[in-house]
Amino acid sequence: GGERPLTGRRALVTAGPTHEPIDPVRYIANRSSGRQGFAIAEALAGLGADVTLVAGPVTLPAPPNVTRIDVQTAREMHAAVEAALPADIAVMVAAVADYRAEAAAQKVKKKDGGMSSLALTENPDILAALGAHSRRPELLIGFAAETEKIVEHAQAKLARKGCDWIIANDVSGDVMGGGDNRVHLISADGVEDWPDMSKEDVARRLAGRIAERFS
Ligand code: C5P
Repeated sequence: GGERPLTGRRALVTAGPTHEPIDPVRYIANRSSGRQGFAIAEALAGLGADVTLVAGPVTLPAPPNVTRIDVQTAREMHAAVEAALPADIAVMVAAVADYRAEAAAQKVKKKDGGMSSLALTENPDILAALGAHSRRPELLIGFAAETEKIVEHAQAKLARKGCDWIIANDVSGDVMGGGDNRVHLISADGVEDWPDMSKEDVARRLAGRIAERFS
């Protein structure tokens, strides 16, 4: 209780993008900065949780009092998440690449036409895997970046991935890599609209809600 209400609780957070190699010098990725996930890891640790942060390739320093595990690919992220179980709380913030390529051992040369098409394989959905896991975290939270029909799409995602809450993030503006976030907290109880706030404030508010849930 008190100022560190999550003392004794284990939390798992994923953050950042994943990089899926095409060859030794090229990869598939996305524009996630990792800021939101790192802020959530920091806020949970600040409330006393024992936090493992599984981070894709980002340029951010590790928050204090957090165990950080760096990964590159979705499959590495999935393995690191599995290895970090059990957890009471899991917040999957990473922008995982949906697909990977078969990585070539040598740099693919343009003259061979080797870059004119890429065969892609679907990556594992780490959040959905946790939702169906025998050691499913008691509170499982996903993020959903949407550009339209934000609540509707997020509610569908909540059901499909078997999580408890979804933070639906309106990315129709300038959010990727930016400082501010407009989010909705979606659960079986309904939809909460949060005002525009910084990613750090989203993190603190979410950590506070998580602490209430465990109080
Ligand atoms: O389906 P979509 O990518 O929009 O879902 C986003 C949510 O699912 C986020 O919480 C993200 O971290 C998680 N996710 C995941 N593994 C994937 C794809 C998404 O954990 N391969």
